[in-house]
Amino acid sequence: MLTKLWKVDKNVDNLITYPQIRQAATLLMENHVVALPTETVYGLGGNAESDDAVAKIFAAKGRPSDNPLIIHIANQAQLANIVREIPEMANQLMEAFWPGPLTLIFNKQDGKLSEKATAGLSTVAVRMPDHPVALALIEASGLPIAAPSANLSGRPSPTTAGHVHDDLDGRIAGIVDGGPTGVGVESTVVDCTGDVPVILRPGGITKEQLEAVVGEVSTDPALADPEQAPKSPGMKYRHYSPNAPLYLVDGEVEDIQQLVDEKRAEGLKVGVMTTEENRERYQADVIYPCGRRTQLESVAEALYDTLRAFNESNVDIIYGEIFPETGVGVAVMNRLTKASGYPIIRK
Ligand code: TXA
Ligand code: MG
Repeated sequence: MLTKLWKVDKNVDNLITYPQIRQAATLLMENHVVALPTETVYGLGGNAESDDAVAKIFAAKGRPSDNPLIIHIANQAQLANIVREIPEMANQLMEAFWPGPLTLIFNKQDGKLSEKATAGLSTVAVRMPDHPVALALIEASGLPIAAPSANLSGRPSPTTAGHVHDDLDGRIAGIVDGGPTGVGVESTVVDCTGDVPVILRPGGITKEQLEAVVGEVSTDPALADPEQAPKSPGMKYRHYSPNAPLYLVDGEVEDIQQLVDEKRAEGLKVGVMTTEENRERYQADVIYPCGRRTQLESVAEALYDTLRAFNESNVDIIYGEIFPETGVGVAVMNRLTKASGYPIIRK
């Protein structure tokens, strides 16, 4: 399949009238799948009402079919059409954070969406992305758009159109290039079907931000306990992985350097994932800084690009620093521990 590539400037007025957006929206209306930028990561969009379109999303990514998709909308009327009721906590959260990196779980109305999009669940995940290109495309198509991250299943999520191209060229109808995304990690997924909101996946909106709006917020205990089945089906899979094994180290630069030296002495090509503050302090084959430690938002923004960069450098093993689990650091550590798949080495 030939994958079309459109470039758009997200800052222009009246994006919806641009030929790139019209063409991409037409493909969506014909049940083809198109990658589009959001403020978190690139999504692989398709008509959420169509089994055919949703099947194409799962096939292009190689995604397990029991992992439901987030439905992306551009206005409240689209929400009312697919959910059974809107709880008060959801109203408060939408008011504060939509459009933005927050996905809410609602009880769904039957018969409105492809059953494949929701993996047969009685609930549906919905979000309104804070990106002019995504909003213009959704509006131009007039459809609810199902969109998982636009990466091959298991690989780091894409934060540039180039990342999408690397994974999905030839497998999808098109890519709308709206420049690099901003937040860098995916939306926070919050279940609003119970008495209090429950975080099922940490992401761009922090627990502290949620609590400031709705008071008590809990977190799915399975996120901290590998023995429990998570409530969000996607959280059980290994994810975001670079090709080489990644080991996270809770220790000082000197501790990590010692591990690096040992592996280099064995003849391995060793990478270090560090931050701007520490990059000059290591000696290794490949050293990539991932943002600034003093500003966790910059770490989130650079995270997937840094993980992907190690694949190009052909290292045999990677050692990575860890981050404090406050604010968006919770999402960063959630993604890093999944990318690693190994217990953290404690020094
Ligand atoms: O920022 C984002 O959320 C990006 C952009 C493209 O919008 N999308 C994204 O989608 O990360 P995806 O498919 O990679 O992750 C969706 C997550 C999965 O963990 C999935 O299991 C969960 O949302 N999910 C979807 N529907 C659900 C439901 N009804 N109940 C619980 N979890 C659900
Ligand atoms: Mg994903």
